[in-house]
Amino acid sequence: MSFDLVLFGGTGDLAWRKLMPALFQAFRHGTLPEDGRIIGVARDALSDEQYRMLIRSRFDEVELAKRPSPEEFDRFAALLHFVRMDLSQPADYAQLAATLRERNADTVVMYLATAPALFTRACEQLAQAGLNTPNTRIVLEKPLGHDLASNHQINETVRRAFGERQIFRIDHYLGKPSVQNLFALRFGNSLFEPLWRRETIANIQITIAEDLGVEKRGNFYDSTGALRDMVQNHALQLLCAVAMEPPINAHADAIRDEKLKVLRSLKPWTAQSLAQHVIRGQYAEGTAAGEPVAGYRQEAGVNPDSRTETFVALRTEIANWRWAGVPFYLRTGKRLASRDAHIVINFRPAPHAIFKSPLGAANQLVINLQPRDGLELHLLAQGADNRRQQAALSPVQLDLDFDKRFGSERVGAYERLLLDVIHGRLNLFVRSDEQEEAWRWVEPILELWEGDSDGPRPYAAGTWGPSASSAMIARDGYCWTEEC
Ligand code: BG6
Repeated sequence: MSFDLVLFGGTGDLAWRKLMPALFQAFRHGTLPEDGRIIGVARDALSDEQYRMLIRSRFDEVELAKRPSPEEFDRFAALLHFVRMDLSQPADYAQLAATLRERNADTVVMYLATAPALFTRACEQLAQAGLNTPNTRIVLEKPLGHDLASNHQINETVRRAFGERQIFRIDHYLGKPSVQNLFALRFGNSLFEPLWRRETIANIQITIAEDLGVEKRGNFYDSTGALRDMVQNHALQLLCAVAMEPPINAHADAIRDEKLKVLRSLKPWTAQSLAQHVIRGQYAEGTAAGEPVAGYRQEAGVNPDSRTETFVALRTEIANWRWAGVPFYLRTGKRLASRDAHIVINFRPAPHAIFKSPLGAANQLVINLQPRDGLELHLLAQGADNRRQQAALSPVQLDLDFDKRFGSERVGAYERLLLDVIHGRLNLFVRSDEQEEAWRWVEPILELWEGDSDGPRPYAAGTWGPSASSAMIARDGYCWTEEC
């Protein structure tokens, strides 16, 4: 099978941080179809050779094990080409069309790794230049819009040029191996299914914590914030993966139908729940890896009076038979105490205690997304001190470390998703109605913040966010994992 992958934003941040390394890994693993071209597109005036040199230099920043040897790079570089384009200039699309005609590949992928403001124009122009042929797929990076209205408008424009089955809206969290394993755990095994419900589960916590700050993306981030950057997409997709009903099969629409139902069942916000169950924070000076670091407002590209949130914690419920009354806590932030993403399923304690056990101790299933990837099952067991009849139970942990079990050379999120696009597999991509529903649900929060003079609560870099986040969960009698 031959393919042409056109990378708009070919010299940009995403291309060199995530996409090129992922494409190289696929190439190294022998999974990238051999008969392919990767065509970088940007405004820079570069020849193919100069583009290859640029990409080569960028690989110096990739961790050693994932860096190509000179011979490997030479073979990979043969796939790389460059087309200079200004996406606002209709005439420039003709040049791209000519390059694509040279080969007439079986599959053409247009990957829009550009500023989202360019999405609609690029799609319109691609269509005008006849570059929306049936064998073309278009990949859209998040954030797709700024709110429900802009998201809807982008979707409408893209759909005028491409059919829904040609549109791949990426949420790279769906490509993470641990998320695949969450689907496998839930829908390939029967063990947990009878327990996966309100009768046995006390609460569910989803944490995506980053220790990094906004890095070089201050400008972008300051007009985006954590709710749009992480909650509307990644955190809600994880929530869907945890809470959805078993799909009737593993096809894309069956999975997306079930995720959509979850999003539609999220409890609507009220003035009271907005006030009590949504916490926003912004990092102030503090530490990261033991070193002092600047606060958010001092970061390059950030307004010194910025009211943009770098942390969100919220509590929601899913109004359906399986989950009614079970709190779901979502939390994400930058410059937190560690890089740690996990989902914790907290089961209810045993209904009647005949053993001594620590107060409130109960079973827990932890799905670790990063830095380690695997499952932990927390049980209560008799420890070493079992001489006395009334020995206390203590928590023990059964570990299934997927990195150890399957090797850490597993397929990364972008590698997996890029191959899915090339092969036309839509399962791990987001449908427009899911995306719009997620926007619809976060919109009352955005509106509230818009008119709220208080702004986000400051928290010191290197901590777990504002104390209000702990207070919110404590009101229900629970605690975040690191606090319990
Ligand atoms: C991106 C966000 O979607 O996800 C970034 O825009 C964030 O702000 C990143 O840092 C986190 O991804 P990962 O895979 O490193 O957890």
